[in-house]
Amino acid sequence: MNYSRCSRVAALLGAALSAASQPKPLSSFDAQVKPLLARMTLAEKIGQMTQPDQEYIKDPTDIENYFVGSILSGGSSDPKEGNSLQAWTDLYDRLQRHTTNTRLKIPILYGVDAVHGHNNILGAVIFPHEIGLGATRNAALVEKVERVTAEEVRATGIQWAFAPCVTVPRDVRWGRTYEGFSEDPQLVREMAGAAVRGFQGTDLASPLAVLACAKHYAGDGGTAFGSAHGGRGLDQGDTRVDEATLRRIHLQGYIAAVQAGVGSIMPSYSSWNGVKVSGNKHLLTEILKQGLGFQGFLISDYNAIDQVDRDYKKAIGISINAGMDMAMVPTKYKEFIADLKQLVDEGVVPMSRIDDAVTRILRVKFAMGLMDQNRSQLADRSLRKTFGSAEHRLVAREAVRQSLVLLKNRNKVLPMKKTAARIHVGGKSADDLGNQCGGWTIDWQGKSGDVTPGGTTVLAAIRKAVAKGTQVTFSKDGTGAAGATVGVVVIGELPYAEGDGDRADLALAQEDVDAVANMKAAGISVVVILFSGRPMILGGVLDQADAVVAAWLPGTEGEGIADVLFGDFRPTGKLSFAWPRSMAQVARHPGDKDYDPLFAFGYGLSY
Ligand code: BGC
Repeated sequence: MNYSRCSRVAALLGAALSAASQPKPLSSFDAQVKPLLARMTLAEKIGQMTQPDQEYIKDPTDIENYFVGSILSGGSSDPKEGNSLQAWTDLYDRLQRHTTNTRLKIPILYGVDAVHGHNNILGAVIFPHEIGLGATRNAALVEKVERVTAEEVRATGIQWAFAPCVTVPRDVRWGRTYEGFSEDPQLVREMAGAAVRGFQGTDLASPLAVLACAKHYAGDGGTAFGSAHGGRGLDQGDTRVDEATLRRIHLQGYIAAVQAGVGSIMPSYSSWNGVKVSGNKHLLTEILKQGLGFQGFLISDYNAIDQVDRDYKKAIGISINAGMDMAMVPTKYKEFIADLKQLVDEGVVPMSRIDDAVTRILRVKFAMGLMDQNRSQLADRSLRKTFGSAEHRLVAREAVRQSLVLLKNRNKVLPMKKTAARIHVGGKSADDLGNQCGGWTIDWQGKSGDVTPGGTTVLAAIRKAVAKGTQVTFSKDGTGAAGATVGVVVIGELPYAEGDGDRADLALAQEDVDAVANMKAAGISVVVILFSGRPMILGGVLDQADAVVAAWLPGTEGEGIADVLFGDFRPTGKLSFAWPRSMAQVARHPGDKDYDPLFAFGYGLSY
């Protein structure tokens, strides 16, 4: 075979491969959707558009009586029987079974916030939050992380994750900064596509595929400080930029997500130039559906429709007419259903809009094999074998390793020797899995302490890694380090989520500053590991510390940190956010006047 023939064959093969890996367009299921839609009553259609939270479904026969098409578990909505893999799976199966009592037997889509692993469920592997994944700069790894997450989600029967978050946080005072990969739209774009491919795979019909949901469309990370919470915050605030800027910065992740075939998108609570996104037809219908060609469906954020207008019924009309397809109405689902029915009867919401919304939802259900009568929609309990498994933990450990950004390394204090005579470990987060995982872990806000079984704190990981004769001592406040070969202090933020994490001041806590000072007072070299959902103002700690590692919110696999501390792996992480020198430098970006970060975007040392 001559060279040109050879390369032609290779090119053809490549084309065939990439065509095969391209997901089927969702509209290709319309031929199946149409006849079903034609048989549906208005009540059945509105039911498909309605998503209550399981926590507030007092009577589960509401599922058949209201033809409910979807259910969610919000951040703290656990099964009544308790939080276990068994209870979650039983809950899913129990609710799913109710759909078989309906005339059309359309299964529910069950959604959860699997934003860093299947993070609501005890014993699941908790991965680094997206800010850490952004620092890995490794899209293939992000795809792998979401593949594993999807498998753990599917082990509970659940088929839908409200992830990835493709926000572009532009002000690190925002409490949701860590939910985003980067302040840089191009990095977000790259990671967004990979994450969607990880969740959904190449074919949504696979029993291991999980429907992804890119969120929060659009501009959630661009809000002006003071435009939310009575002037005190950023979350759910107002993004004041022109359309060209919105597209250049905040739409990039959606372009990639749509290209990767994302089946659902969640509009944001926030506003764009004073208008709530969840009621903005130009954004939802003209830009996203018509412009970007999004063929899946839009799911409103938790009670977000309430914010569109003071009059709830009017708000529903505005939002649905703007292009919202499914409503996350955790508690008020009966009211939503009654109001939407009236709005249709009154001609405020045209039947064509209802049909479009239901078509989009059913396309996804057909694509996922939910409508396949020969396929059980109950959980595949054989997947429990790999839930929280050592194999899955290794993927998280690799992600942790690659997410670490080494900010400082005076006199090559890192890597440390596993054979050091004594390592003194300190800091409030050194032995605290909850602080290591952050918000959206078991509880919506997360919490300190032993939040979930199966993980490894930094202290435990160091103990596991050192040589036999090495002594590892620990004090929370960093005292008692005298005589140690080297000290490691683990400090940082306490868990939070959403607006509760909005902060005007990102200085380190006094307790953390003291722990570093106490350790340093022993006259030893000190390595500082920072757990935080964003860059923080390091102040005097930067001078005191001999080495500083930004570890973000790494999740359950602390051994990934020990791997790098002891030099089994080199640090490779690069900042996905610039690191501000002072609070005066937050919300500044390349090209802005007086832009002078302490560590530039992309910074990261190695050895
Ligand atoms: C958050 C979303 C989340 C939803 C469901 C909201 O508070 O903004 O990101 O998907 O809750 O839990």
